[in-house]
Amino acid sequence: MRILVCKNYDEMSKKAAQIISSQVILKSDSILGLATGSTPIGMYKNLVDMYNKGEIDFSEVKTFNLDEYYQLPKDNIQSYYYFMHKNLFNHINIKKENINIPNGMNGDVEIECASYDEAIKNIGGVDIQVLGIGNNAHIGFNEPNDAFIKNTHLVDLKESTIEANSRFFDSIDDVPKKAVTMGIGSIFASKKIMLLASGECKAEAVYNTVYGDVTPQVPSSILKFHNDVILIIDEAAATKLNKEDYKLI
Ligand code: F6R
Repeated sequence: MRILVCKNYDEMSKKAAQIISSQVILKSDSILGLATGSTPIGMYKNLVDMYNKGEIDFSEVKTFNLDEYYQLPKDNIQSYYYFMHKNLFNHINIKKENINIPNGMNGDVEIECASYDEAIKNIGGVDIQVLGIGNNAHIGFNEPNDAFIKNTHLVDLKESTIEANSRFFDSIDDVPKKAVTMGIGSIFASKKIMLLASGECKAEAVYNTVYGDVTPQVPSSILKFHNDVILIIDEAAATKLNKEDYKLI
């Protein structure tokens, strides 16, 4: 696990966008695994700027998002479908048919989950998966649990996640209680993983990811078992790490 620590959120976002852009320049038909939430917004902004300057071409890129709320329509401004279009897809030349986001409205959620994993498998796996991390160390919506769940599945969100995400909703009662998320196995099928974290509220989760035992109670801890993981975090998220364990950039 390589750890790069950037001065602040803006620098983290720039670095993350550079890595995605290098991936797309090296392989124009890259498969990108994408995340939502506050953390990657700056990265998406940088990617849009790069696109506007003609530095990156998304015409052959395909994307798979990590997760989507269950039973929240696409046109709801809190849906991850809406988020991704607002922050990235509406501003770049990606083809509509190359965008994949779990459909939380599918009446048969088991079929939805199985076909999502099948689609990732059929395409040969994701080239680089972007992850954020929850305060409780969730990745995607793989919440602390008694076991790691391999495949894409329907999950009950933890109270702590509902509370953390209520900042985007009018009231905590409006936050969906369930989501469809890629499982740990689906995430691990990715060739590379880039986890982003910003702010002191993530420092403990980052510490447990790096130094803690691998346990489903700390879902991100499993990343130690993947052979190509890079953490791009800011100084605030790195406050609990030993300085010799990361590179300050
Ligand atoms: C989002 C996702 C979540 C978030 C995490 C951090 O697609 O899968 O794991 O990455 O909840 O969210 P923020 O960035 O809002 O702190």
